[in-house]
Amino acid sequence: MVATVKPRVVSGMRPTGKLHIGHLVGALSNWVELQATYDCLYFVADWHALTSEYADTGDLTSYAYDNVADWIAAGVDPEQSTLFVQSLVPEHAELYLLLSMVVPIPWLERVPTYKEQIEQLKEKDLSALGFLGYPLLQGADVLIYKANYVPVGEDQVAHLELNREVVRRFHKFYGEIFPEPQPLLTHFPRLPGLDNRKMSKSYGNTIDLSDDAEAVKKKVMRMYTDPKRVRADIPGTVEGNPVFVYHDAFNPDVAQVDDLKARYRAGTVGDVEVKRTLVAAINAALDPLRERRAEVLSKPARIKEILMDGSSRARVIARETMKQVRDAVKLSYT
Ligand code: TRP
Repeated sequence: MVATVKPRVVSGMRPTGKLHIGHLVGALSNWVELQATYDCLYFVADWHALTSEYADTGDLTSYAYDNVADWIAAGVDPEQSTLFVQSLVPEHAELYLLLSMVVPIPWLERVPTYKEQIEQLKEKDLSALGFLGYPLLQGADVLIYKANYVPVGEDQVAHLELNREVVRRFHKFYGEIFPEPQPLLTHFPRLPGLDNRKMSKSYGNTIDLSDDAEAVKKKVMRMYTDPKRVRADIPGTVEGNPVFVYHDAFNPDVAQVDDLKARYRAGTVGDVEVKRTLVAAINAALDPLRERRAEVLSKPARIKEILMDGSSRARVIARETMKQVRDAVKLSYT
């Protein structure tokens, strides 16, 4: 039998906090699904975390281990995929440096997330070179493995676009080395937070993968719903209502969800029933994950070993790419 080479996928996550159900629905379930079809490399983007968290780095490594425990609990399989830590593969930084030689600064300044984040995170000084270089470092993460696809959310599409422009410019000077990576968009829409704003640790509106059943109950029972429904007999809006967005994401009993929606629209169901059934659905979905998470976290040495092994395997690929890149740039002294 001829061994067929699977197309390669690379994706990363910043270790800036505990993971929540938004990460599960938006990224992790997709990571899990891709494993069968692609050669997947998933990494802890600790340098990317530093671009905004450089003043307070104390929790990075513990979040890294905690996040990876969640990845594995969600079904990311360290036997099948390569799990590693960005900063343990310093070749990412070398490629980033070489890319930085050819990238015009205005290309980085016009990436939409750049100005947006500076606006949104006013309390942080994001005037550093590292923050401007964020999408370029992301490009290096992907190119160093010659990845074909990058699973990303809508907000990251501009980063990939930049990445492809950078590749073309690099090739113009030094010849063809890299495939142009394509986005693999996640099909599930972004989950709103409990208060219907964007789900984010900084808003305190998340349900974390580490929350127990009781915490989920408390959080869901105080969730934002249709504000015009001050009484249960007032017809409500289902579309864009976070309790129903969550039902759609977590409740496998489609008949129950349809019935709740119909009665909500008619004003014949109370919020409490909608929320109680939602609590049950979320807890049922998270229970197996909680069990595996506890099991993984009970063997911290194993998580470390997985990341060390994965990082050495990633490094073998990264080194090979850098050899070719150095040759192409005519920086080979041997
Ligand atoms: N910017 C991504 C995020 O915030 C994280 C990331 C860093 C990434 N490097 C990457 C994602 C490379 C995909 C590929 O979600």
